[in-house]
Amino acid sequence: MPPSIPNPADLPLPAPDALAHSARLAEHIREAIRAAGGLIPFSRYMELVLYAPGLGYYSAGARKFGAAGDFITAPELSSLFSRCIARQCREALTAIGGGSILELGAGSGIMAADMLLELQALDSLPEEYLILEVSADLKQRQRQTLATKATALASRVRWVDGLPDTFSGVIVGNEVLDALPVERFLKTHTGHEQYCVREAADGFDWSTRPAGEQLAATLAAFETTLTAPLPAGYVSEICLGAAPLVSSLAAVLTRGALLLMDYGYPRNAYYHPERSMGTLMCHYRQRAHGDPFLYPGLQDITTHVDFTAVAEAGVSSGLELAGYTTQAHLLMALGVAALAGTDMRATQQVKLLTLPEEMGERFKAISFTKGIDAALSGFALRDLSRTL
Ligand SMILES: C[S@@+](CC[C@H](N)C(=O)[O-])C[C@H]1O[C@@H](n2cnc3c(N)ncnc32)[C@H](O)[C@@H]1O
Repeated sequence: MPPSIPNPADLPLPAPDALAHSARLAEHIREAIRAAGGLIPFSRYMELVLYAPGLGYYSAGARKFGAAGDFITAPELSSLFSRCIARQCREALTAIGGGSILELGAGSGIMAADMLLELQALDSLPEEYLILEVSADLKQRQRQTLATKATALASRVRWVDGLPDTFSGVIVGNEVLDALPVERFLKTHTGHEQYCVREAADGFDWSTRPAGEQLAATLAAFETTLTAPLPAGYVSEICLGAAPLVSSLAAVLTRGALLLMDYGYPRNAYYHPERSMGTLMCHYRQRAHGDPFLYPGLQDITTHVDFTAVAEAGVSSGLELAGYTTQAHLLMALGVAALAGTDMRATQQVKLLTLPEEMGERFKAISFTKGIDAALSGFALRDLSRTL
């Protein structure tokens, strides 16, 4: 459940230049709403607010990651996370006799830097380290991070604007699926309403309309995959971009593995009757709340991931499901405790990464393989694939 909508007065006030930036993005969104006749689907609002070129949260210069930003991801929290993921990549690359790594949505570039340093230390550097990043601003940030943190290895990294035609190696992505735009819907006695966004006197507000033919058909078909139909009044969201993204990754992967980490649930837990307001969540300066209209462009908007949809997309695209587990079990299986040793700071980071009340249970990892016979070590401690 998203936390209650904050009182903006309780949140840190953005700097004047940030407010001016937000006002420019808001005007851009208002133009889109007017051009569409007064309403845009929430998915379009989320796309614009996060990715409008030069203006969106991920496309422009907001600080975003880390303690000084809006939220902390696992690679930002500790290099131990990326070192473990590097070890999983190394195992998969060894199984196929070498290959490259392709990282989706590399954020600040810290995971790429820490993975490359770990793989160098293990004498297992990949042929290439490719990054597919939609944000021009973040590409720049990634270049800077790699140049300062992994100077000698930065030349191994190549940014690509789209997926290669074929790829052999490991594709990784941390918290990319949760950043994809979603459709928000309301179940009614007669069908489904689509949540839309309209202009309001002081910004934007929600509005609903009957789901169009295509969305209605998609939602009706989707509901048949649940153990029970959703009750009237139920609000949630569906990420229509996740399955096509996974399928496109599967289509280019000739041999190797796909490893995605994110927060989310199997479908029946995600769409549990008690989760009746969905999982939409916003992050602004380390505060989580439920108002996506606050400071457009200055805060992150995310939803949890339906890992059953991810598994279905991978398997129906010819991949083998290699495992699904919690972040805690993934990292423990990959030796995070031994990597931390007795260092107090590292031990504290392991706690944050693995304790159930911290990131350990909420975050999950799913992996698929193609042309790899051996099991992946990351899923050896606890494989929850049967829950999907
Ligand atoms: C929540 S951030 C996570 C960043 C980083 N992986 C981390 O864990 O710190 C989401 C990232 O995914 C990128 N992104 C969003 N949609 C994408 C897509 N379709 N393909 C590649 N990257 C995408 C964003 O620009 C951003 O870098």
